[in-house]
Formats: sequence, C-alpha cells, structure tokens
Amino acid sequence: MSVGSPGAAAYECSPNIALIKYWGVRDPRRTLPWNSSVSVTLDRLRSRTAVRFEGGRSEDEFRLDGAAVGGRPLDDVIEFLDRVRGAAGIRERAVVDSSNNFQTASGLASSASGFAALAGAATRAAGLNWSDRRLSQLARLGSGSACRSIYGGFVEWRRGTRSDGSDCYARPVFGEDHWPELVDVVAIVKGAPTKPVRSAAAMQSSVATSPGYAHRQKELPGRVRKLLRALRDRDAPRLFDLVMEECDSFRDVCETTDPPLDYLTATSRSVLAAVRAENERAGRAVAGYTHDAGAHVHVFTLTKSAARLRRRLGSIEGVDRTLLLRPGPGGRAIPLPRGR
Ligand code: PMV
Repeated sequence: MSVGSPGAAAYECSPNIALIKYWGVRDPRRTLPWNSSVSVTLDRLRSRTAVRFEGGRSEDEFRLDGAAVGGRPLDDVIEFLDRVRGAAGIRERAVVDSSNNFQTASGLASSASGFAALAGAATRAAGLNWSDRRLSQLARLGSGSACRSIYGGFVEWRRGTRSDGSDCYARPVFGEDHWPELVDVVAIVKGAPTKPVRSAAAMQSSVATSPGYAHRQKELPGRVRKLLRALRDRDAPRLFDLVMEECDSFRDVCETTDPPLDYLTATSRSVLAAVRAENERAGRAVAGYTHDAGAHVHVFTLTKSAARLRRRLGSIEGVDRTLLLRPGPGGRAIPLPRGR
C-alpha cells in the first residue's frame, strides 16, 4: 500500500460546522464569498477519497459508498477533475472512489469533507504536490465550505479582496487541541428533509431578495473579530452567545429570502428552544446552538455540561439521537485502499 503511487492517491477529510456562516458569493465562477467565515473541523466523521488516473479510460467514473453516481454530482466531480488535469497538464480520465462514515447529504456537510478529500487525492494522483493553502483554494471551487475542511481545529476562510481570488483561502486559527473542554452535541433530527435547492443557488437568492442581507454584511466583520477573540480567550458564555446571534442572523436571512428558505423542522426548533431554556435556567449561556442549511442542530457546550445537555436534547420528540463531537484533525494523505 503506497500513499502516492504514480497516477493514484487517497486522502481523508472531516466535515466542518460554521460558527460564522458563508452565505453568498460576489463571484460565482471563482466562489469568492461576500464575507469571511469561521468554522470548527469535527472529529470522528470523515470522507475518504481515492483517485486513480488511467490511460486508455474514456470517461471519468465516480463511486460513492460503493455505488456508481451519475447526473449533477458526477458533472461536478468531472468539472473539478478538469481543473486538476488542466493544472497538471494531463488528459487521463479517472476513477474516483469516495466513502463517508456518516450518511451522505444528511445535513452533516458531506460536500465540504468530500470536495476537500477530492482536492487532496486528485492533486496527488496527478503528481501535484500542493500546499494546504492551494488545496483550500481548489476545494473552494467544488463547494465553498470545503476550503475550511483542509485544516483541523478552528479555521477562518478569509474573503479576500482581489478579483482573481488569490487572497481568498482558509487558514488555521487555533489547533484541534486549543480548547479540550469544548464539545459539539449534535441533535440528529428524524426525517430531516434533503435540501430542495442547492446551497450555491439558495444563497444567491438570499443575496438578491433578503431585505436583511446588507445589514448582516455590515455586522459580520465585527462579529468575526469578537468570535475569534472569544475562541482565543476560551470565553465560553461569550462564544455561545455569539454563535447563537450569528445563527439567528443566518436563519433570519434565509427566512426572509423570496421564496423563503426554511431548513428546520418543528423538532429543530424545539432543540433551539431547549438550549435557550437551559441558558435561562443557568442565568448565563452554558450552550450555544447553530445549524447549517439542514435540520440537524449543533449545540456547543463544555464537557461538564455535555451529559445533561445530551439527556435534555435526546428526550425531545423527533430527536433520533445525539452525537458528541470535538474539534478534529485536518486533511491527510492515507494509504490507497486495497485493489486500487
Ligand atoms: O459550501 P456550500 O456551498 O455547501 O455552502 C455551505 C453553506 C453553509 O453550510 C450554510 C454555511 C457554511 O459556512 O458552511
């Protein structure tokens, strides 16, 4: 088993959850966002992707969790491979074999870990030895949030100002061991609907129609600064308040988009209410909720409050189970699976 035999390589990345959301681009072709965003890369969940370029192959093939994939997801992978082929000056078509150890498209950011792993595997297989920064710039073109999954721990995706995107990339801010007491209790919601509109299209509809979008943009640079400070100081109540403020702002923009974007179920809303009630009871923020464009809810808290919170959230009607996740590692090369 080799990590990079010529023409083939494998790479592994974990999903991330945004504490400050990416929602809207100023340049869709280059995926240049309107605002910087901040995330935590999570442990335990991961996407593994192997890429093999083969001479004589006439088409790219994409297998996900063992099954051949066609349609739009295949087109996205081909477009991504074309960029890598262009950069490497090769023409060979490839077999892409990807697997997630969690449910794909379940609202747990499989596109972020998937495109980050594809960036790592495809460049290596093509003979390119790119830095993490370049990988993050490439991953961004597959799915914006994927640029943050190249790194572990706490990550900032800087919006940059240049029109060619050369200063738009993710950077690690604090490592995965920065704050060992901080945990993410994920409430997995039963019957979470799959996204009716792809995020890339949905966010542009928010940019165009939500009356709150411009105001949100004004608030964001200050919120990013405050959040990075709270992380640096390991100031839990401050962090939880900021994470909820940001989540509420994101949700408000979604709900005031025309037509409205509603990613939550009644159960998700009960989870948000339970977190507010826990904080009320404690007289300060002991937990902070956030969610992406999906129904599951991530609730940050400290290890000392995790067991109580899991019991509380796990007892809500419609919550299937809770996961206990922590900040996790960045992307890494892995041995090629046997037979590849
Ligand atoms: O990376 P995309 O195109 O799937 O968009 C992700 C958008 C959010 O998950 C809602 C926010 C974020 O920053 O991850």
